[in-house]
Amino acid sequence: MRTQVAIVGAGPAGLLLSHLLHRQGIASVVLESRDREYVEHRQRAGMLEQGTTDVLRDSGVGDRLDREGLVHHGLELRFGGAGHRIPLYELTGRTVTIYAQTEIVKDLVARRLADGGDVRFEAPVLEVDPSGPGVTFRQDGRTHVLECDYIAGCDGFHGVSRPAVPGLRTYSREYPFAWLGVLADVPPSTDELIYANHDRGFALHSLRSPKVSRLYLQVSPDEDLAAWPDERIWSELAARFATDDGWTLREGPITDKAITPMRSFVAEPMRHDRLFLAGDAAHIVPPTGAKGLNLAVSDVTLLARAFAERYASGSESLLDDYSRACLKRVWRAEHFSYWMTTLLHVDPQADDFARRLQRSHLEYVTSSRAAAASLAENYVGLPLTGANDPAGT
Ligand code: APR
Ligand code: PHB
Repeated sequence: MRTQVAIVGAGPAGLLLSHLLHRQGIASVVLESRDREYVEHRQRAGMLEQGTTDVLRDSGVGDRLDREGLVHHGLELRFGGAGHRIPLYELTGRTVTIYAQTEIVKDLVARRLADGGDVRFEAPVLEVDPSGPGVTFRQDGRTHVLECDYIAGCDGFHGVSRPAVPGLRTYSREYPFAWLGVLADVPPSTDELIYANHDRGFALHSLRSPKVSRLYLQVSPDEDLAAWPDERIWSELAARFATDDGWTLREGPITDKAITPMRSFVAEPMRHDRLFLAGDAAHIVPPTGAKGLNLAVSDVTLLARAFAERYASGSESLLDDYSRACLKRVWRAEHFSYWMTTLLHVDPQADDFARRLQRSHLEYVTSSRAAAASLAENYVGLPLTGANDPAGT
């Protein structure tokens, strides 16, 4: 069994890479340990940078995104009982789009299959050999070897690809809190996302559609979901979003409830021999800046370009520059995600001095155009091409 690029993992990174390669006439096989139903329904984030929607649209998988995605021109930071709008579009000329990651995955799976793509579910990879190169996987009770020119490790944080890189350097940070996320069948109580800082902890009001709200609460990392019946979730959300002018939160049936740990993590380099890491396999950000999915998309966009150059001209110059080019963008997003997280969450260890500094920081970001513009340009996403990213120019 042989292909040009063996792709481990059918999350957004692996599926989009396979789709982009197909458009360049490059063959790939995607191997995914879970079944299709599971992959298409796990709840993840849903805020897309304009650069991400451009990649999806330009590669022909943006039809439903254009119909159902909700374009946002601003966001709200809420603290001290009042809301403060950050006008993203006015400050940057760019917008963001709310469209759930699960929907992107469904669109990509459907498109790969319609294009005759080889996407195998319930086919866990046991081992990757970066030098062979090849991957060993299980399917239908048998062990197979897929030989290839290159391997793309798109198998997320717990995958097998990253451990196959010798001499990897890792950097990480754990946070003293987690997010309890809920989906609720209730029209959103806001048109734009609300990021709230409150003495009781952080809360985020996001949405999925005009009829479905997505809400998050800061909780402790060892929180027990059983301690959070629906009534407690609604009353805690209402307390953290409360304003002095009597804003109200609409309540409705909760259809999904989960706790997500928060961590920052980067592995360097993102390449070893013929193996290239992309997405969560190489880096994790806390969800406050909504960068995880967007980084996965920018990684595989650069990787697809590099493979296109390699197969068109034989040159490996973009492949050789892949890790450096990605890590530059990754570290910017790492810093921004850390910064948004510490700006908005309540650190249980913080003393009064730290709390007063945090309040001053929030007041600065919401009153200085320069400070708001800095938040905005990072939030909407720095361009993939340009001075920040010489490999993309
Ligand atoms: N063999 C095959 N597939 C595997 C293996 C393995 N050994 N190990 C993991 N996988 C699969 C997982 O089941 C998952 O479907 O790899 C896929 C990785 O997908 P994601 O975790 O979604 O990672 P990625 O595609 O990089 O997308 C990053 O997902 O976690 C969010 O916030 C993150 O939005 C970001 C995005
Ligand atoms: C989401 O809609 O799930 C979402 C939005 C913004 C974030 C994180 C999650 O910062």
